[in-house]
Amino acid sequence: MEKTLVLIKPGGVARNLIGVISQRIESRGLSITAMKLINAERSTVEKHYAEHASRPFFGEVCDYLTSGPVLAMVVSGTNAVKAIRATMGATNPLDASPGTIRGDFALSIEDNLVHSSADLEAAQNEIALWFPEGIVKN
Ligand code: CDP
Ligand code: MG
Repeated sequence: MEKTLVLIKPGGVARNLIGVISQRIESRGLSITAMKLINAERSTVEKHYAEHASRPFFGEVCDYLTSGPVLAMVVSGTNAVKAIRATMGATNPLDASPGTIRGDFALSIEDNLVHSSADLEAAQNEIALWFPEGIVKN
Protein backbone atom coordinates (compact mmCIF):
# COMPACT_ATOMS: atom_id res chain seq x y z
CA MET A 1 0.00 0.00 0.00
CA GLU A 2 1.40 3.40 -1.01
CA LYS A 3 0.24 6.98 -0.60
CA THR A 4 0.86 9.73 -3.12
CA LEU A 5 0.04 13.42 -3.35
CA VAL A 6 -2.15 14.61 -6.20
CA LEU A 7 -2.97 18.21 -7.06
CA ILE A 8 -5.63 19.39 -9.46
CA LYS A 9 -4.03 22.65 -10.55
CA PRO A 10 -5.96 25.95 -10.82
CA GLY A 11 -6.77 25.38 -14.50
CA GLY A 12 -8.42 22.05 -13.73
CA VAL A 13 -10.44 23.52 -10.87
CA ALA A 14 -11.49 26.49 -13.04
CA ARG A 15 -12.64 24.12 -15.79
CA ASN A 16 -14.76 22.13 -13.32
CA LEU A 17 -12.72 18.98 -13.86
CA ILE A 18 -12.54 17.97 -10.17
CA GLY A 19 -15.23 15.33 -10.63
CA VAL A 20 -13.89 13.87 -13.87
CA ILE A 21 -10.31 13.65 -12.60
CA SER A 22 -11.31 12.21 -9.22
CA GLN A 23 -13.48 9.64 -10.97
CA ARG A 24 -10.57 8.45 -13.10
CA ILE A 25 -8.43 8.02 -9.99
CA GLU A 26 -11.16 6.06 -8.20
CA SER A 27 -12.03 4.04 -11.30
CA ARG A 28 -8.39 2.95 -11.50
CA GLY A 29 -8.96 1.23 -8.14
CA LEU A 30 -7.20 3.78 -5.96
CA SER A 31 -8.75 5.48 -2.92
CA ILE A 32 -8.87 9.18 -2.11
CA THR A 33 -7.96 9.33 1.58
CA ALA A 34 -7.72 13.11 2.02
CA MET A 35 -9.02 16.02 -0.05
CA LYS A 36 -9.23 19.80 0.29
CA LEU A 37 -9.71 22.87 -1.90
CA ILE A 38 -7.26 25.60 -0.93
CA ASN A 39 -5.59 28.80 -2.04
CA ALA A 40 -1.98 27.66 -1.77
CA GLU A 41 0.58 29.85 -0.02
CA ARG A 42 3.47 30.95 -2.21
CA SER A 43 5.88 29.40 0.31
CA THR A 44 4.13 26.03 0.05
CA VAL A 45 4.36 26.04 -3.74
CA GLU A 46 8.01 27.10 -3.70
CA LYS A 47 8.82 24.20 -1.36
CA HIS A 48 6.73 21.85 -3.48
CA TYR A 49 8.71 22.71 -6.62
CA ALA A 50 12.07 23.24 -4.84
CA GLU A 51 13.74 20.69 -7.13
CA HIS A 52 12.97 23.04 -10.04
CA ALA A 53 14.16 26.25 -8.32
CA SER A 54 16.94 26.86 -10.85
CA ARG A 55 14.83 26.10 -13.92
CA PRO A 56 13.57 28.95 -16.14
CA PHE A 57 9.92 28.00 -15.62
CA PHE A 58 10.11 28.04 -11.78
CA GLY A 59 8.65 31.54 -11.32
CA GLU A 60 5.84 30.88 -13.78
CA VAL A 61 4.87 27.52 -12.35
CA CYS A 62 4.74 29.06 -8.85
CA ASP A 63 2.65 31.99 -10.15
CA TYR A 64 0.31 29.50 -11.78
CA LEU A 65 -0.12 27.30 -8.69
CA THR A 66 -1.05 30.39 -6.66
CA SER A 67 -3.35 31.91 -9.31
CA GLY A 68 -6.50 30.22 -8.01
CA PRO A 69 -7.77 27.37 -5.86
CA VAL A 70 -5.96 24.03 -5.96
CA LEU A 71 -7.55 20.72 -5.07
CA ALA A 72 -5.05 18.73 -3.00
CA MET A 73 -5.59 15.06 -2.30
CA VAL A 74 -3.87 12.00 -0.93
CA VAL A 75 -4.38 8.89 -3.03
CA SER A 76 -3.77 5.47 -1.52
CA GLY A 77 -3.47 1.99 -2.97
CA THR A 78 -1.15 -0.69 -4.27
CA ASN A 79 1.63 0.90 -6.34
CA ALA A 80 -0.27 4.21 -6.11
CA VAL A 81 2.75 6.37 -7.01
CA LYS A 82 3.45 4.72 -10.35
CA ALA A 83 -0.19 4.04 -11.17
CA ILE A 84 -1.17 7.69 -10.75
CA ARG A 85 1.79 8.93 -12.81
CA ALA A 86 0.66 6.64 -15.64
CA THR A 87 -2.97 7.75 -15.33
CA MET A 88 -1.86 11.39 -15.60
CA GLY A 89 0.31 10.92 -18.69
CA ALA A 90 3.46 12.69 -19.84
CA THR A 91 4.32 16.15 -18.48
CA ASN A 92 3.81 17.73 -21.90
CA PRO A 93 0.19 16.96 -22.83
CA LEU A 94 1.20 16.83 -26.50
CA ASP A 95 3.24 13.73 -25.63
CA ALA A 96 0.61 12.25 -23.31
CA SER A 97 -1.30 9.26 -24.64
CA PRO A 98 -5.02 9.55 -25.26
CA GLY A 99 -6.74 7.88 -22.32
CA THR A 100 -4.57 9.70 -19.80
CA ILE A 101 -5.84 12.77 -17.97
CA ARG A 102 -3.34 15.08 -19.65
CA GLY A 103 -3.77 13.36 -23.02
CA ASP A 104 -7.53 13.77 -22.90
CA PHE A 105 -8.00 17.20 -21.27
CA ALA A 106 -4.86 19.32 -21.69
CA LEU A 107 -2.87 20.94 -24.49
CA SER A 108 -0.07 22.92 -22.86
CA ILE A 109 2.74 22.04 -20.46
CA GLU A 110 2.08 25.22 -18.44
CA ASP A 111 -1.50 24.11 -17.83
CA ASN A 112 -1.24 20.33 -17.66
CA LEU A 113 -4.01 20.15 -15.03
CA VAL A 114 -2.54 17.76 -12.51
CA HIS A 115 0.47 16.98 -10.34
CA SER A 116 1.45 13.71 -8.72
CA SER A 117 4.51 12.75 -6.68
CA ALA A 118 7.45 11.36 -8.64
CA ASP A 119 8.43 8.65 -6.16
CA LEU A 120 7.76 7.40 -2.63
CA GLU A 121 10.17 9.80 -0.95
CA ALA A 122 8.68 12.79 -2.75
CA ALA A 123 5.21 11.52 -1.86
CA GLN A 124 6.02 11.46 1.87
CA ASN A 125 7.48 14.95 1.76
CA GLU A 126 4.65 16.38 -0.34
CA ILE A 127 1.91 14.84 1.82
CA ALA A 128 3.55 16.38 4.91
CA LEU A 129 3.81 19.74 3.09
CA TRP A 130 0.22 19.89 1.82
CA PHE A 131 -1.47 18.12 4.75
CA PRO A 132 0.44 19.31 7.84
CA GLU A 133 -2.76 18.68 9.84
CA GLY A 134 -2.57 14.98 8.98
CA ILE A 135 -5.07 12.88 7.05
CA VAL A 136 -8.34 11.32 8.10
CA LYS A 137 -7.93 7.79 6.79
CA ASN A 138 -5.09 5.47 5.92
O1 CDP B 1 4.49 17.48 -13.27
P1 CDP B 1 5.59 16.54 -13.69
O2 CDP B 1 6.21 15.79 -12.53
O3 CDP B 1 5.14 15.63 -14.79
O4 CDP B 1 6.73 17.45 -14.36
P2 CDP B 1 7.99 18.20 -13.73
O5 CDP B 1 9.14 17.99 -14.67
O6 CDP B 1 8.20 17.83 -12.30
O7 CDP B 1 7.60 19.74 -13.84
C1 CDP B 1 6.72 20.33 -12.90
C2 CDP B 1 5.73 21.21 -13.64
O8 CDP B 1 6.41 22.34 -14.16
C3 CDP B 1 5.06 20.55 -14.84
O9 CDP B 1 3.94 19.78 -14.49
C4 CDP B 1 4.71 21.74 -15.71
O10 CDP B 1 3.46 22.28 -15.34
C5 CDP B 1 5.81 22.74 -15.38
N1 CDP B 1 6.82 22.76 -16.46
C6 CDP B 1 6.81 23.81 -17.37
O11 CDP B 1 5.95 24.69 -17.28
N2 CDP B 1 7.74 23.85 -18.39
C7 CDP B 1 8.67 22.87 -18.49
N3 CDP B 1 9.57 22.93 -19.47
C8 CDP B 1 8.68 21.80 -17.57
C9 CDP B 1 7.73 21.78 -16.56
MG1 MG C 1 7.44 16.43 -11.00
